[in-house]
Amino acid sequence: MNHLISMEDLERAAIERIVAQAERFSEVSHREIKTVPALRGRMVLNLFYEASTRTRSSFELAAKRLSADVVNFASSGSSVEKGESLKDTVLTLSAHKPDAIVLRTPWAGAAELVSRWCSAAIVNAGDGKHEHPTQALLDVYTLHRTLGNISGASIWIVGDVAHSRVARSNIIAFQRMGARVTVAGPPTLIPRGIEQLGCDVRYSLDELSGADVVYALRMQRERMDDTWVPSLREYAARYQINAQRLHPHQVLMHPGPVNRGVELSGEVVDSPQAVITAQVEAGVVVRMAVLYELLAGRSGPARPDGQVSGERAENPAAVA
Ligand code: CP
Repeated sequence: MNHLISMEDLERAAIERIVAQAERFSEVSHREIKTVPALRGRMVLNLFYEASTRTRSSFELAAKRLSADVVNFASSGSSVEKGESLKDTVLTLSAHKPDAIVLRTPWAGAAELVSRWCSAAIVNAGDGKHEHPTQALLDVYTLHRTLGNISGASIWIVGDVAHSRVARSNIIAFQRMGARVTVAGPPTLIPRGIEQLGCDVRYSLDELSGADVVYALRMQRERMDDTWVPSLREYAARYQINAQRLHPHQVLMHPGPVNRGVELSGEVVDSPQAVITAQVEAGVVVRMAVLYELLAGRSGPARPDGQVSGERAENPAAVA
């Protein structure tokens, strides 16, 4: 794997390999010393053109726990504010020779474009409405830990599918792992033709009780250029996941940040069925596994002991 741009890039075996690697790194995260030398001498550049709490912090932690050098770049406060383009920014920062660039932008397709401009491994950390593959991987990991087996599970993705990069990546990932996926929401927020990805479509929550997992999406008002629902109050009345709609056997997921009182009631966010905090926790070990998958084994700077830095080990988590 040279880059991680779309979930389309990963077959089931690759997803399972990343999940298994994340489980090994999870053991490390419970130790007193939480770092391993797997990517010592490598550099990870976090390039963020959009707000982020979970993804940015977990990629930084993941790279540091693998002993990589980390450069964090946020477009605000940078020369982007003086008009520097994405391409010139990437070419400028490439002078520091990053081994990987973790990129979040509001532009669909930007990660793919950047992969043509430099030699670093590109990780798509969210490109507009297009994809967010590491979110999908951490969600697969969380469900693997919660359910044991995703194959055959019924997963409902509820809400603003039209503006969601998470929905697209997760539909692909969950189906690759053998789950049955249904997307549900108001007709204005379900893209026409989404069935072509292999999922079912519902415009009401009448059959929600049949789901094993309810995956609520955020109402993404920053990506809406028009009024897509009559009002948030009306949306909540028909589609909010609340204590009346969530059944006791169901697992509740959300990528965050949550609009409490809109797509989720405060009560269900705080319920034991919600694994939202576990999703955030999974973000670190899954992103460690992704960086390891991309960088270990790639030729890198020579170490004083003659080994290639980041050489793929049988179990990098065992190397303290
Ligand atoms: N889920 C997610 O991508 O969250 P952030 O926008 O906080 O990174």
